[in-house]
Amino acid sequence: MGHCSCFGLWGWRETKAKNHDDKYAKKKSKSQLSSVCSKVNSEPTLPSSAPIVEPNAENEGKTFTYRELATATNNFGAESFLGQGGFGRVFKGQIKNSQDVAVKQLDLTGLQGDREFLVEVLMLSLLRHPNLVKLFGYCAEGEQRLLVYEYMPLGSLEDHLHDLTPDQEPLDWNTRMMIAAGAAKGLEHLHNEANPPVIFRDFKSSNILLDDGFRPKLSDFGLAKFGPTGDKSHISTRIMGTRGYCAPDYANTGKLTVKSDIFSFGVVLLELITGQKAVDSSRGHENQYLVTWAISKYKDCKNIKEIADPLLRGQFSESTLKKALEVAFLCVQRKSNCRPCISDVVLAMNYLTSHPYNPIESTNLMAKDPQMGDSPTGTKRILHKDLDRERAVAEAKMWGETWRERKQMQQCSADGVNR
Ligand SMILES: Nc1ncnc2c1ncn2[C@@H]1O[C@H](COP(=O)(O)OP(=O)(O)OP(=O)(O)O)[C@@H](O)[C@H]1O
Ligand SMILES: [Mg+2]
Repeated sequence: MGHCSCFGLWGWRETKAKNHDDKYAKKKSKSQLSSVCSKVNSEPTLPSSAPIVEPNAENEGKTFTYRELATATNNFGAESFLGQGGFGRVFKGQIKNSQDVAVKQLDLTGLQGDREFLVEVLMLSLLRHPNLVKLFGYCAEGEQRLLVYEYMPLGSLEDHLHDLTPDQEPLDWNTRMMIAAGAAKGLEHLHNEANPPVIFRDFKSSNILLDDGFRPKLSDFGLAKFGPTGDKSHISTRIMGTRGYCAPDYANTGKLTVKSDIFSFGVVLLELITGQKAVDSSRGHENQYLVTWAISKYKDCKNIKEIADPLLRGQFSESTLKKALEVAFLCVQRKSNCRPCISDVVLAMNYLTSHPYNPIESTNLMAKDPQMGDSPTGTKRILHKDLDRERAVAEAKMWGETWRERKQMQQCSADGVNR
């Protein structure tokens, strides 16, 4: 659980509703999302008793009283405490109908405030997707600001990747790929289906929450922004995000594009593959960033399997590992326009999840003895091998077609990989 690892000094707002983003948002007037966005920018207050947006059929955007949430969380008691982030503390609770919820309480002395609260409420009230966490409602009584989400029983992806307790089972390869694929679909919804597009801006493993089937949902929309529309390529904004996940082009220029999220996705994919943290000073100053570490490890290692998380105990196929790394490296390229768009990432992740690691198949392959070729059993094996080869060729073709364009772009930018 990260404790506000964001670029606090760079980006947290001290004054409200006075920056480029406000101007940008005010210009948009047609879509529901953009009209709500300008409302956020011009009126940073929430009524405590009525929903701020017209609820859609599914939207349960409900207001809670402080008393209701205190009761639900056992008075915000220690036994209900789930974790803490930049916004404040998070508690497990139960509302009416025994519905489990997670209640996030704004830390009144912290660096986040009304603005993040409003953006979170409005974005999540309007965006609906199986890979985005659901907001049940909020409480804005006096100074108190609380958000009420669906409870995600397995916590965050970060909790399952780093600093595991001895009784915690590490995630297996297939689950890791499934999580990355689901998270990519959540991003795809934001980038391609929302209108105007939404840039998440804080994509990281602690913001990917897991339900009881390890299905991922993106959470924490407090930093999200509406993306550029028309012929604009980017929006200009203060630099905010989390060290290690933030795209270098955005960090250096403040120009935010959907490709900034793609970079962060690449970092999370590297975290899933390697089990390494996005930033870790114990890897030495040069390699403290995962992207740098992974690239140098990839160049130097004799066996590509060395790059994978040791907790996977080699339980993955080498070719899938290669492909997953390829996707990650494409996403973290220094030049933002060389990074793939989210629909290509989804396509690639679908490919990876549709080729799950099968330990039994793999054991059988290893048990094959090439000297058995003359025997009837051996002939069968050769036939199988031919079939396998055919399948492999077909797969390689499909993979190659999908990624040829990306690879060309990658080659055209030999220096295109970050840091
Ligand atoms: N809906 C939820 N269901 C279950 N647990 C949650 C939920 N939301 C948050 N948590 C838990 O609370 C922790 C803190 O979450 P929070 O989003 O406040 O901080 P963070 O993501 O670690 O840091 P940051 O503020 O930088 O985003 C999470 O790591 C997770 O374990
Ligand atoms: Mg979070």
